Amino acid sequence: MDNRKAIVMRQIWITKAGPPEVLEVREAPDPEPKSGEVRIRVEASGVNFADILGRMGLYPDLPPMPVVPGYEVGGRIDAVGSGVANDWVGRDILAVTRFGGYADTVCVPLIQIFVRPPGMSASQAAAIPVNYFTAWQLVVVMGGLKRNETVLIHSAGGGVGIAATQIAKHIGAQVIGTASTAKHAELRALGVDQLIDYRAEDFETRTREITKGRGVELILDAVGGESWKKGYRVLAPTGRLGMFGISAAASGKERNMIGMLALLARMPWFQFNPLALMNANKGVFGVNLGHLWGEIDRQREWADRLLELWGQGVVKPKIAKSFPFAEAAKAHHFIQDRQNIGKVLLVP
Ligand SMILES: NC(=O)c1ccc[n+]([C@@H]2O[C@H](COP(=O)([O-])OP(=O)(O)OC[C@H]3O[C@@H](n4cnc5c(N)ncnc54)[C@H](OP(=O)(O)O)[C@@H]3O)[C@@H](O)[C@H]2O)c1
Repeated sequence: MDNRKAIVMRQIWITKAGPPEVLEVREAPDPEPKSGEVRIRVEASGVNFADILGRMGLYPDLPPMPVVPGYEVGGRIDAVGSGVANDWVGRDILAVTRFGGYADTVCVPLIQIFVRPPGMSASQAAAIPVNYFTAWQLVVVMGGLKRNETVLIHSAGGGVGIAATQIAKHIGAQVIGTASTAKHAELRALGVDQLIDYRAEDFETRTREITKGRGVELILDAVGGESWKKGYRVLAPTGRLGMFGISAAASGKERNMIGMLALLARMPWFQFNPLALMNANKGVFGVNLGHLWGEIDRQREWADRLLELWGQGVVKPKIAKSFPFAEAAKAHHFIQDRQNIGKVLLVP
């Protein structure tokens, strides 16, 4: 008898659009890796804000429900499909998954696998791909941040915010961060130079005060709506606004179509026209890592650099909290209640 057939894997499903309680752990037969794939025994899965928007029915890229979400895992390879060398078995790795990462076992193509450097835990590994690839693309690849420039990072206490802060400080830039007040002391210790609670104060006014009227060279903004308009106004000449999400769409824990329409109405549909951009010497750009699968080779180059920086202590994933699979709903509440400083993980 093939013993492995008796093994079942556990996955966390979004059963339907709704509050965190729609998440459900289900069992399924152990998957077999296809040609070119490896099978991972997952030790930690990353939770991302996109999973939350997906759960609320606000993320168009999510496959139809019911669905297992999840973009990233840390773990160990225990089987390989045809065409993959056997010596991959037993290696500690991190991986990007195109959904399906909320599971204790997942099969992915070898090209999405990165070997973990010695000493890196599975939890740290699961905290790297989405947050650090996104931060790298925003700060380095498209944002072109330079020494002595100033970057305004929204949601500085989130996974991307902390990753972007570490990269920006390494470059030698000044960081202004927005976050809920309770996070300020810890974020200051993590390297953010100036902090603004954007729900209590007007970040545009405060940014002007902090920069003595000049504005900032780079903004990372995944809040969206009105925030992009204000950000564009507070860019210094040659400044760039990087837009990479719309957290503001998650105004509650369930989909709110009226709120969504109001948010769409507040988008800067007309501010960023070619003449305005040219005359203001400003730039705007967008980032969506989930639409970059065709550039996996470039992402592998970024990963090489980021893992090197991990070795130098520059890249230091901060784990806010790990939740067991059975408490996946609590993990989503934790983020939506704005409690996290750093990455939230699910552990089997
Ligand atoms: N385009 C891409 O490729 C890409 C990749 C990764 C992430 N993202 C986007 O980047 C943003 C941050 O992601 P992340 O993984 O760093 O976040 P995270 O770790 O899940 O942190 C979320 C934090 O965002 C802040 N926030 C802002 N608006 C919020 C809202 N309406 N509801 C709840 N929290 C809100 C909260 O902190 P404060 O209260 O302190 O502000 C919260 O703690 C998200 O919008 C995400 O979709 C985009």
